[in-house]
Amino acid sequence: MNPSNPTPNISTPLTLSNGVVLKNRLYKAAMDEQLAPNNTPGQVLVRLYDTWAKGGAAVLVTGHVMIDRRFSANFDTTAVDDERDLPILQAWVQAGTQNGTKLLMQLNHPGKQIPKNVNKQPVAPSAVPLSKELSALFNPPRALSEDEILDIIRRFGQSAKIAEKAGFSGVQIHAAHGYLLSQFLSPHHNRRTDNWGGSLENRMRILVEIYHEIRRQTSDGFIVALKLNSADFQKGGFGEDESVQVLAKMAALGVDLLEISGGNYESPAMMEGVKDSTKKREAYFLDYADKARAVIGDVPLVITGGFRSMAAMNEALSGGSTDMIGMAKPYAVMPDVADKLTSGSLTHIATPPVRTGIKAIDKRLGGLLEIYWYTKQLHLLGQGKPANPNYSAYKTLWGIVKDGVRRERG
Ligand SMILES: Cc1cc2nc3c(=O)[nH]c(=O)nc-3n(C[C@H](O)[C@H](O)[C@H](O)COP(=O)(O)O)c2cc1C
Repeated sequence: MNPSNPTPNISTPLTLSNGVVLKNRLYKAAMDEQLAPNNTPGQVLVRLYDTWAKGGAAVLVTGHVMIDRRFSANFDTTAVDDERDLPILQAWVQAGTQNGTKLLMQLNHPGKQIPKNVNKQPVAPSAVPLSKELSALFNPPRALSEDEILDIIRRFGQSAKIAEKAGFSGVQIHAAHGYLLSQFLSPHHNRRTDNWGGSLENRMRILVEIYHEIRRQTSDGFIVALKLNSADFQKGGFGEDESVQVLAKMAALGVDLLEISGGNYESPAMMEGVKDSTKKREAYFLDYADKARAVIGDVPLVITGGFRSMAAMNEALSGGSTDMIGMAKPYAVMPDVADKLTSGSLTHIATPPVRTGIKAIDKRLGGLLEIYWYTKQLHLLGQGKPANPNYSAYKTLWGIVKDGVRRERG
């Protein structure tokens, strides 16, 4: 907790250790916009950020941006691995930094979490496939060579350098949700016996090296943030005790902002939470936040997942559990949710689950339906239209089928 603000609320500004001032405590967490055909962001994406920046959040984090377009998480996900799109990145910055907003580019390599119609041969720390349930959608990965690991580290730095050149306020390293860095951290997914696997020190080496490389390739004052899982919530995976140790290390190295989430494609806790005790506090990972606090000193903490009411947000802030309120889905259905909360005109935002009501479909495809439905909302906003909270789950399902057929046909 910032000592100058003993009882902060959602409207209280926050000063980072590098002197950057965030105008309030509301933080739009990353959502893959899928508005970059051939990995190139376009005007629809720029317009989406224009809308969001005008909506009052202190920080906007972009959807994950690929550091290597050969390994893209999806067909229309932005990639920044050279300067070919600098002018549109600059337009993105201009839109996303209006109104005193800070814009962070989330940098990611998906590792094995690439659908097989997007990439037939994904890579990972080790050749461990995703669970049986996901094997219809994802091909087994091959293990990375050491040279490839070093190349990935360099690429994170290079993407950050381009982000800074375009004018982004900073970057966020994505080490959560089961993507490549999360796979390295997990003893289940990382079975390497070299310097990049085994002990926690080895499993976190790639993350530490990426952090140093980004600092090396960017200037002082450029924000470097991290998104980390509190746990993967799977047997033999990355757990809370190890997560706390990674946070302590990254805080000691000087990371500017830490965001906590949890889960992965095999165990999607980030989308639905896990524990009854945390559900009572609304946000899924608040219990963990209390443990994280003890080891990260003054580094500001953002908890993301589940926040929906002003009362729970202000309680988490004033109690010192978190310094910022991370939310994603609310910004898709109400782009000015931050303004509405700080002005007091809104005290609760509902984001009901997207379900068809057909058990077999909802059980198998519920997560995918939800992602498609929210992505649809982002596309509406980017087209200058209002969000459509009544958009039906059936239409969403039909969209998934049509998209699948179109992609298969090329
Ligand atoms: C459509 C969609 C896309 C997402 N894409 C990303 C992403 O690119 N990177 C990321 O870290 N999290 C991503 N997330 C997860 C959110 O950042 C967040 O952790 C999650 O939605 C829980 O927060 P909420 O309950 O406030 O929505 C995505 C979520 C949604 C709904």
